[in-house]
Amino acid sequence: MLGKELLGKSFGGLLVSLLVACPSLIEATPVRVPRHATVVDSLSAAASNYTFVIAGGGIAGLTLADRLTEDPNVSVLVIDAGPLDQGEDGVLVPGSYSPWLYFWPNLVTTPQEGLNNRSVFTPIAQVVGGGSTINAMVFVRGKADDYNKWGAIGNPGLSWNTFLHFFLKNENFTRPDPSFAKAANISWDESVRGNGGPVQYTYPNYYYPGSGKIIIANWWSAAQSVGLPAIKDPNGGDDLGIYWFPHAVDARTRTRSHSRRNHYDRVKDSRPKYHILPSNMVSKVIFRGTTAVGVEYLPTAGGKASTAYAAKEVILAAGALNTPKILQLSGVGSKKLLQKHKIPVVVDLPGVGSNLQNQLTLRVPYTASSNLFPNSGSIANNATYAAEQRALYDTKKQGAYTIVSTLSTNIAMMSLSQTTSSYKKIVSNARAASAPYSLSTEVDATVLAGYTAQRKLILEQYESGKAGIGSLHWNTADGVTIYMNKPLSGGAVTINSTNPLENPLVNYRAVTDPADIEVLTALFRKNRELMSAPDMAALGVAEAAPFGEHITADSELASAFRGAIDPSNAHQCCTAAMMPRALGGVVSSEKKVYGVRGLRVADISYWPFQISGAPTATMYASGERLADAIKEYKLAEHKR
Ligand SMILES: Cc1cc2nc3c(=O)[nH]c(=O)nc-3n(C[C@H](O)[C@H](O)[C@H](O)COP(=O)(O)OP(=O)(O)OC[C@H]3O[C@@H](n4cnc5c(N)ncnc54)[C@H](O)[C@@H]3O)c2cc1C
Ligand SMILES: *[C@@H]1O[C@H](CO)[C@@H](O)[C@H](O)[C@H]1NC(C)=O
Ligand SMILES: *[C@@H]1O[C@H](CO)[C@@H](O)[C@H](O)[C@H]1NC(C)=O
Ligand SMILES: *[C@@H]1O[C@H](CO)[C@@H](O)[C@H](O)[C@H]1NC(C)=O
Ligand SMILES: *[C@@H]1O[C@H](CO)[C@@H](O)[C@H](O)[C@H]1NC(C)=O
Ligand SMILES: *[C@@H]1O[C@H](CO)[C@@H](O)[C@H](O)[C@H]1NC(C)=O
Ligand SMILES: *[C@@H]1O[C@H](CO)[C@@H](O)[C@H](O)[C@H]1NC(C)=O
Ligand SMILES: *[C@@H]1O[C@H](CO)[C@@H](O)[C@H](O)[C@H]1NC(C)=O
Repeated sequence: MLGKELLGKSFGGLLVSLLVACPSLIEATPVRVPRHATVVDSLSAAASNYTFVIAGGGIAGLTLADRLTEDPNVSVLVIDAGPLDQGEDGVLVPGSYSPWLYFWPNLVTTPQEGLNNRSVFTPIAQVVGGGSTINAMVFVRGKADDYNKWGAIGNPGLSWNTFLHFFLKNENFTRPDPSFAKAANISWDESVRGNGGPVQYTYPNYYYPGSGKIIIANWWSAAQSVGLPAIKDPNGGDDLGIYWFPHAVDARTRTRSHSRRNHYDRVKDSRPKYHILPSNMVSKVIFRGTTAVGVEYLPTAGGKASTAYAAKEVILAAGALNTPKILQLSGVGSKKLLQKHKIPVVVDLPGVGSNLQNQLTLRVPYTASSNLFPNSGSIANNATYAAEQRALYDTKKQGAYTIVSTLSTNIAMMSLSQTTSSYKKIVSNARAASAPYSLSTEVDATVLAGYTAQRKLILEQYESGKAGIGSLHWNTADGVTIYMNKPLSGGAVTINSTNPLENPLVNYRAVTDPADIEVLTALFRKNRELMSAPDMAALGVAEAAPFGEHITADSELASAFRGAIDPSNAHQCCTAAMMPRALGGVVSSEKKVYGVRGLRVADISYWPFQISGAPTATMYASGERLADAIKEYKLAEHKR
């Protein structure tokens, strides 16, 4: 989740130009004789041979580096395009959340044909810790059926139960104060909450009270009045309804628990062979024949290329937009694309970069006639309130600064049947569509086969009600954000040149599948029903431009959507999918890249398709699981 409420206001040119003006590039500190995990410089990285080299130190990358270096004989180099964060309030303090501090510069989509040909700035992280350093900290898993269906598409044995073990290993849940939890309607199921793992998570200890009426309680009651039940635990695998969302915050300090902290700082004093090289981009994998033996990298600011070698494996963990870019630059991708750029083909793998998916968002602005103060906008709008709350946070770790800025505390996650009574018609329309609308006509036959197989599984979820297809979040101030978790439109990411410093072409092909507009319309109408229920009407809230109660026809709504949708909630995935090669897959069930040796993909690119939740919890668990799988191999078996 993006903190859309906040970003919506400052999006566009301003953010982009800010980033161009002051790219944060911190020089790595050279350390000669390391006794603990170290930030290395480019020269010493190149002069050493590591057991593993990991491209990208985000959630998956740092989880793996931590777990692999538990073996004192294993050395790991992590190369990350971004710097280390400086412990800024904007990173650590929930109420000061400022994700733009470490956005990847100048990353813009291609013109989106479903969105009036708009090109949209599309945030991802460029910082050690990746998304976990700048994300909105929402810590919710997918539904059981999501992981079961990842198994069903060609990964036998993979299921919710496989993941549950690693969810629990990864996390340390701190319970809220019992009387606060009771008053606030926070509930959870002890049996699915982990204790003792490295990632800290909890709930804020405050909610927006409003004046007179507890405004968040009005929303809670309104949601129940339109058929959305209060659920026990969003992280238990099958509940759909309204809940307080947990977040990745350390309850002791009320600061962000990001992978830089929980998988690097936490262990660095005892890990001499865990090295990080920040502010450098991996440009390609070096192959000897078809065996990956190392990587080429260069400073993100530009400069001379160097190489680092891996005795055992190279692991890509650069995220869903950059991992396919590295693969394509290395000669692993669609032969047609590689030949166009005169890149020698190591393996023709048309799935690389295809199957790009995201969770899109639609912000619906609201005005309020009653005084809702204080609400999630008050820190920004009222300096007296902000100062009071900040003092409370600094002295007692309480109050509004324990909530991620611009968000509130509750959300509704819904199946399609909870969203609309005409869900069967949406499903049958989508099934009757003669061919998937959303892929371009040039698409490779295996990719098309994989997309068709996925679409079938996702439509089963639409019909069965076992998955959350969307969610509604009222920020208590000036808007609702509608999230679409499982759109059917699929896109692609491709290199535009052989320059490793150039951003790839990012095309989500958002809402090119007509079913997506139908589902979004259903979500929009459900939100309208909730926001006009008596408990919300009592607060005097009214839908505002570009929407408004006078806009009622499906066609009018659809055209307003096309002008307002953000195609990305920064949950990009699935561009090196773990599926059979005949379905356009890129990696095997062991996350090994097809057609080569010594190369795996660890980041969110491996997902076959989107889940009914946010990615972070699943990506930590994925890192844990892959680390275990790699450790099970005996080194000897993998000697080349
Ligand atoms: C603004 C924002 C808000 C979000 N909010 C939420 C939320 O509230 N809850 C949630 O669950 N999820 C959220 N997400 C999504 C979540 O953070 C990501 O899905 C997740 O971080 C993906 O993990 P990953 O390990 O696949 O990759 P990342 O964590 O993205 O890590 C990739 C890393 O690779 C590095 N890199 C990229 N290219 C190269 C290269 N060529 N060489 C070397 N390094 C490279 C990057 O600098 C980055 O550190 C948000 C994301 C963003 C950007
Ligand atoms: C590292 O490995 C590469 C490839 O095997 C080799 O060419 C190089 O000499 C090695 N460097 C060091 C410092 O051992
Ligand atoms: C590390 O390597 C040394 C030398 O090969 C070996 O004796 C030792 O058992 C190894 N330690 C572990 C934990 O594998
Ligand atoms: C978008 O661009 C395409 C190709 O240039 C064009 O055919 C189409 O009419 C445009 N659509 C809109 C809504 O402007
Ligand atoms: C888990 O959280 C509790 C309470 O915040 C804390 O006391 C404990 O030390 C944490 N455990 C770990 C392993 O981080
Ligand atoms: C908690 O739930 C009860 C029962 O639905 C409701 O009356 C109350 O207002 C809710 N409180 C909050 C803070 O949501
Ligand atoms: C601003 O905050 C102060 C302190 O909480 C409060 O007394 C005041 O009424 C607020 N002003 C407005 C306009 O809401
Ligand atoms: C892609 O490359 C072409 C030149 O080959 C250039 O004109 C175009 O601007 C590039 N597109 C992007 C988005 O960088």
